[in-house]
Amino acid sequence: MTMLGKKKLSTKSYKGTRDFYPEEKYIQNYIFDVMGNTAESFGYSEYSSSILESTELYKAKTGEEIVNEQTYTFEDRGGRSITLRPEMTPSIARMVAEKKRELLFPLRWYSIPNVFRYERPQRGRLREHWQLNADIFGVAGIEAEIEIISLAYHIMNNFGAKDEDFEMRINSRESILAEFDKRGIEGDRAKQLLALIDKKDKIDNFEDESKKIIGEVFELDTHWDGAETLKSALSALGIKNVSYNPNIVRGFDYYTGMVFEVFDTSPENNRSLFGGGRYDNLLDIFGVPNIPAVGFGMGDVTMRDFLETHNLLPEYASPTDLFICTTDKEKISFAQTLAQKLRQKGIAVAVNLTDKKVGDQISLADKRFIPFIVCVGEEEITKKKFTIKNL
Ligand code: HAM
Repeated sequence: MTMLGKKKLSTKSYKGTRDFYPEEKYIQNYIFDVMGNTAESFGYSEYSSSILESTELYKAKTGEEIVNEQTYTFEDRGGRSITLRPEMTPSIARMVAEKKRELLFPLRWYSIPNVFRYERPQRGRLREHWQLNADIFGVAGIEAEIEIISLAYHIMNNFGAKDEDFEMRINSRESILAEFDKRGIEGDRAKQLLALIDKKDKIDNFEDESKKIIGEVFELDTHWDGAETLKSALSALGIKNVSYNPNIVRGFDYYTGMVFEVFDTSPENNRSLFGGGRYDNLLDIFGVPNIPAVGFGMGDVTMRDFLETHNLLPEYASPTDLFICTTDKEKISFAQTLAQKLRQKGIAVAVNLTDKKVGDQISLADKRFIPFIVCVGEEEITKKKFTIKNL
């Protein structure tokens, strides 16, 4: 109880979200930098949009589970139903449809938005995460798949991952959807079965569950001829950790063709890291047909776990280059003038503002990983000579 007799507020962040103290923020920035720089090295331009979207955007064509169970939805003061974006793909589709006449296709765009899903928090799954989205619009041919997968590969590479650290599993929904057609599986049953196939590797009662949906056991004996073409084109680019896997279907309804998912091969973190695929009809919901698209979403949570598992996290470096100590409080104003001059030269300088002993000031700067230190005392001021210590 506080003095006012009220209950003390919790200092914990909202369930499934994270606070980023400087060391964590440093890691997140590093992750964003590698993602963004690699996307730009492939010619992708950055875009952004609001976290808030009209709820109807998600009713049209995403996974049922996302819309019904996993969104943060509320009514605004004007009575409109608003949703915190659970993914970026409907937003980018909306943006492209809005300016389809002005935009120069093919478009190569990327963004690193935070997205919100009301999930049970667990390793690799939170309620807020950030996600690199890299998408290419306006290319119907396999060249787009090749580029998107090689971009994904090079991001992993630039994080320091070796080929044996991850595996890229590819498939196409075309063959599965054709198989559904052949057997007359459509509508809700098709959606349910796709969702079940998506979970196939994680459950042990696939046969029984598929029976519940279509009345018989669904045997996945589909084959995708395109796999070999895609694999050999990637191999020619030096990308060889790609395998065909008919169980990869992914969770959203809008995928129409190639789908892929990247897995960590380490037994300690044997899980899906990220994925994406081709979605050629999503802009239909805005009345804009025939804009083919391929892309993927790469989350910061699973990526951080991957980097940790493979010892690839960067060591924290302070944004401050130099700390100015003072022998007593009277020297602080001199130290501030000195700091100002140094900052004009592009050096990041922090000044002591306390009456702590010099030794304590130095050890604090050291604990903060500030690499250089200058001490200002009577002698330094009269002689106008300062010694820089390298910590
Ligand atoms: P998604 O598979 O739902 O696809 O999410 C992409 C990635 O975001 C996941 O593979 C994972 O890395 C991360 N992720 C998803 N949910 C969570 C969560 N609850 N906590 C932490 N990380 C998570 C999409 O969202 C598609 N819109 C991607 C896409 C872009 N497809 C084409 N373009």
